[in-house]
Amino acid sequence: MSESVVASHAGTRPPSRRSAFSVIAPGRVNLIGEHTDYNDGLVLPMAIEPHIRLDVASRPDRWMVLETDRSDEPEVRVDVGQPLSPHDFKGSWTAYPCGVVAGLKRLGWEIPGFHARISATLPAGAGLSSSAALEVGIATAIEVLVGRHLSSEEKALLCQGAEHEFAGVPCGIMDQFAVTFGKLGHALLLDCQTRELRQVPLATEAVSVLVIHSGVKHSLADGEYAKRRAECHSAARLLGVASLREIGLSEWRVREPSLPDLECRRSRHVVTEHERTLAFVDALKARAWHAAGECMYGSHASLRDDYEVSCEELDLIVEMAREVDGVYGCRMTGGGFGGCAVALVDANRTPQIQQFVRSRYREQTGIDPVTFVTKAAGGVALLP
Ligand code: GLA
Repeated sequence: MSESVVASHAGTRPPSRRSAFSVIAPGRVNLIGEHTDYNDGLVLPMAIEPHIRLDVASRPDRWMVLETDRSDEPEVRVDVGQPLSPHDFKGSWTAYPCGVVAGLKRLGWEIPGFHARISATLPAGAGLSSSAALEVGIATAIEVLVGRHLSSEEKALLCQGAEHEFAGVPCGIMDQFAVTFGKLGHALLLDCQTRELRQVPLATEAVSVLVIHSGVKHSLADGEYAKRRAECHSAARLLGVASLREIGLSEWRVREPSLPDLECRRSRHVVTEHERTLAFVDALKARAWHAAGECMYGSHASLRDDYEVSCEELDLIVEMAREVDGVYGCRMTGGGFGGCAVALVDANRTPQIQQFVRSRYREQTGIDPVTFVTKAAGGVALLP
């Protein structure tokens, strides 16, 4: 199994200007490397098949009109000719598209009016990056409407900025990069320090990626995510490094006794997760599925005990997964506090595994969990 390296500044071809078209933006699931992106570390997400679709048509005025496929959601109209302020969109999903528009306007782009009908096979609030999909989808749509383009990296960073400024979530770069750079059949090993991206092939004839939604809604805007980020920053400061990426496991072990308990546990997660991510990639290359799975279980335990971002329901899913024949590994995925677990499973046993997990989880929690098997999908794209 070989890896291909994508230049970190890879760009897209300038889109030809069009007035009616459709954009597909995938969600993402992170296989391993959790809460490491904002510590300049490694992440290994893949784009997934569930996605957001935007059917876009230009308008002769300056209104951005957003319509969703949900009957309880009224149509939204925003005058993109006026300056946009984050306060006007606080707490609403419209913060994501408006943040992107504001970012492009800051670059000097003239944003034309358009109508976008938004439909999704990707659940919101499941920790599968529906927000990043919406941001990157809108940015791509505007590129086509305007007939200009950003490089893929610029686009992902602009969308991350929209999330910081308009949604108030100080996220890392993983989600927007996964949605932008996703490649069919591959996971993306992203070095968040250098932004070097390696495409790691997944042997789909042997293993499948199973996503299990706990049914617990996850939200990053409630402050816990920002708190973890600040705690890592404090740990790095105490260790005298610019970011936790700068300190390896052996050095961390020497320095660990000088750290207060909280900073010790938070930094232990980040430093050991780095090792697990490298070991996971090696295991995938060697087709050592059980070894890869153990990295996932280790990651979950660390997120549960040291990083404290799991919840009872996710812990239960991971415990159940250990009991099923054909599951190599399982862990919570994404920001945590609810959302989904991801499992690496024997490709020939996915129906039995899904059935077992669903009925057991229902029995124990009363929640009917959504589960799905997904291939690694391509990144954001225009429909032909
Ligand atoms: C969220 C953030 C990402 C990343 C993950 C945790 O998904 O948006 O940037 O920090 O949490 O790995």
